[in-house]
Amino acid sequence: MCIRDVMCVLVVMAFGVAGCASDDAPPQAAASSTVDSARQADSTAGSAAAQPASPGVGIAPKGQPKTGTAAGSASASAPAQSPAAPTASSATEPVERPKRPDVIFVPTPDEVVAKMLELARVTSKDVVYDLGCGDGRIVVAAAKLGCLAYGFDVDPQRIKESKENVAKNGVGNRATIEQKDIFTLDLSKADVVTLYLLPSLNVKLIPQLEKLKPGSRIVSHDFDMQGVTPDKVEEVDGQIGAGHTVYLWTAPLKKEAQTE
Ligand SMILES: C[S@@+](CC[C@H](N)C(=O)[O-])C[C@H]1O[C@@H](n2cnc3c(N)ncnc32)[C@H](O)[C@@H]1O
Repeated sequence: MCIRDVMCVLVVMAFGVAGCASDDAPPQAAASSTVDSARQADSTAGSAAAQPASPGVGIAPKGQPKTGTAAGSASASAPAQSPAAPTASSATEPVERPKRPDVIFVPTPDEVVAKMLELARVTSKDVVYDLGCGDGRIVVAAAKLGCLAYGFDVDPQRIKESKENVAKNGVGNRATIEQKDIFTLDLSKADVVTLYLLPSLNVKLIPQLEKLKPGSRIVSHDFDMQGVTPDKVEEVDGQIGAGHTVYLWTAPLKKEAQTE
């Protein structure tokens, strides 16, 4: 069992605890020993991800120490479960619950960020979208290459951290952070889309990714997109010895033939 698999189990356990406070059933995921079985675990949890009000699920990072900014903080920053006490008007009006993350925050290591931007051949002419931007590290790195970079996340804590990161690095003129559900985004203006989500979430994004301009690039940290053939798959050595995989696809997507 690799570090990614161990993290997968720990993160799912953490969400199981958080889920007890919720009226939603927590996702269940199985321990896995290969990337394929990680996808299997994801697909079990993925049915929960398809329902907007269900708790987010954990990814299994390779080579990452377990810190407060990863698995731990996701449940801490999850929106409250109980709506405010009803008032005269709220008793009759439907209460819209904030969208909860479909996957927790786990940062992509800097060397993997660099490989993602390199594989996507990002230049200053590009518009880069990071879907689920976390602390904004990919947005900041892309903006430092001179392009326009946009980061989207549903977690208010991540939005705050991303905005602070953008300000700290002085790239506010090229980087924009927005609190939005990535599954509602129009991606047609992006030249490059970066992902570190889950295999099932990559697949769920296919209808939006199919609207990318021809020649646009998609790069994903660690997770493939079942049914779509990547142009390149590269391995990156992590700082503490664990490997990371980066996938590259180019629009229009090369869909694999469906097998019966
Ligand atoms: C694994 S982290 C990746 C962060 C960053 N892209 C990176 O690679 O360092 C995934 C992020 O996606 C966000 N997220 C999950 N579901 C989302 C959704 N439906 N819309 C927007 N953001 C979402 C989480 O809050 C989290 O910050």
